Amino acid sequence: MRLLVTGGCGFIGSNFIRLVLEEHPEDEVLNLDKLTYAGNPENLKDVEGSPRYFFQQGDICEAEDVVKAFAWKPDTAVNFAAETHVDRSITSPEDFVRTDVLGTYRLLEQARELGIRFMQISTDEVYGSISAGSFTEESPLRPNSPYAASKAGADLLVRSYVRTYGVDAVIVRSSNNYGPYQYPEKVIPLFVTNLLEGRKVPLYGEGRNVRDWLYVRDNCRAIDLVLRSGRSGEAYNIGAGQEKTNLELTHIILEIMGKGEESIEYVPDRPGHDLRYSVDTSRLRELGWSPRQDFEGGLRETVRWYRENAAWWEPIKSGEFQRYYLERYGDI
Ligand code: NAD
Ligand code: DAU
Repeated sequence: MRLLVTGGCGFIGSNFIRLVLEEHPEDEVLNLDKLTYAGNPENLKDVEGSPRYFFQQGDICEAEDVVKAFAWKPDTAVNFAAETHVDRSITSPEDFVRTDVLGTYRLLEQARELGIRFMQISTDEVYGSISAGSFTEESPLRPNSPYAASKAGADLLVRSYVRTYGVDAVIVRSSNNYGPYQYPEKVIPLFVTNLLEGRKVPLYGEGRNVRDWLYVRDNCRAIDLVLRSGRSGEAYNIGAGQEKTNLELTHIILEIMGKGEESIEYVPDRPGHDLRYSVDTSRLRELGWSPRQDFEGGLRETVRWYRENAAWWEPIKSGEFQRYYLERYGDI
């Protein structure tokens, strides 16, 4: 495959590119990334020298950048590029509408013109919150944050390009990922690095919200499978069925890191905070996927990675992130 990957310098995109280069020796990858605060070329330092890896700095919202990337003549495009942090979408929604909706439109236009396969990396958040049971791919989209609404807008555009223009497209909707190279604004790397720095961890509300934790490598294997074997026009949920309340998650992290209850700082809740996400993954499992990583093992591995890779996250936490953190969390 000649794969155009957008947003490949982010958390999941970089893990995905590494997996493709490792597992498909015949594949070539062009990574189109704007390098926003969340995009970090360090995430792909180890593959930079590969003759099968190419990089273009560019914005998926800019037609010129997108046309240039498609001139590389990919046979498939996978769109990871997005603004991804729910809390930032609450304070600055415009960036989300621009990148997550307009950017997806620009890519779809090129996929349509060139007649190539398109994959949209979406999220379980497009369905909204569910107190019991799980969402299937046919459940209505009822997003609750500006982030989730922008991602839902992109999903609907993809659907419309399949129906109207016959574009060969698939969508994946993943649950919460964790693992190496995740930007420390997200709860697991934030809590782990705070504890490594001797700080407390800011837990929203009473910590009752539930997330289904999926190891990033398992997510990337599922994405790769759907990319190659998924039915055109379909969406596929991806989740590991490892649901934890945030309080349970926090206790496991504290236990792994040898810290106590006094390290928790309860802070005001996120506005519109979804209580629980849960997706039915039967459709994906029919393709032959199942998660390999159990949650506690994956979390231990992740804590070890952040412990051993302070050189990766310390510059982030003392750079752009510092101002963001101080405004949000004060001196916690
Ligand atoms: P991330 O924030 O770590 O990385 C996003 C990447 O996109 C960065 O490299 C950034 O530079 C790039 N980017 C942003 N705007 C761009 C633009 N306009 N043009 C080109 N590049 C741009 O994100 P992530 O956590 O790796 O998420 C990747 C995708 O997976 C997103 O689409 C997200 O919605 C989806 N997703 C994430 C999770 C999760 O738990 N992290 C779960 C489900 C779905
Ligand atoms: O469900 C998939 C989604 O998971 C992705 O689409 C998003 O891109 C990704 O950011 C993630 O969204 P969440 O809002 O679930 O992730 P976050 O890490 O921000 O928060 C996870 C839970 O932890 C959530 O219930 C809020 C809580 N939390 C988060 C932060 C940052 C805290 O209690 N304290 C915090 O400081």
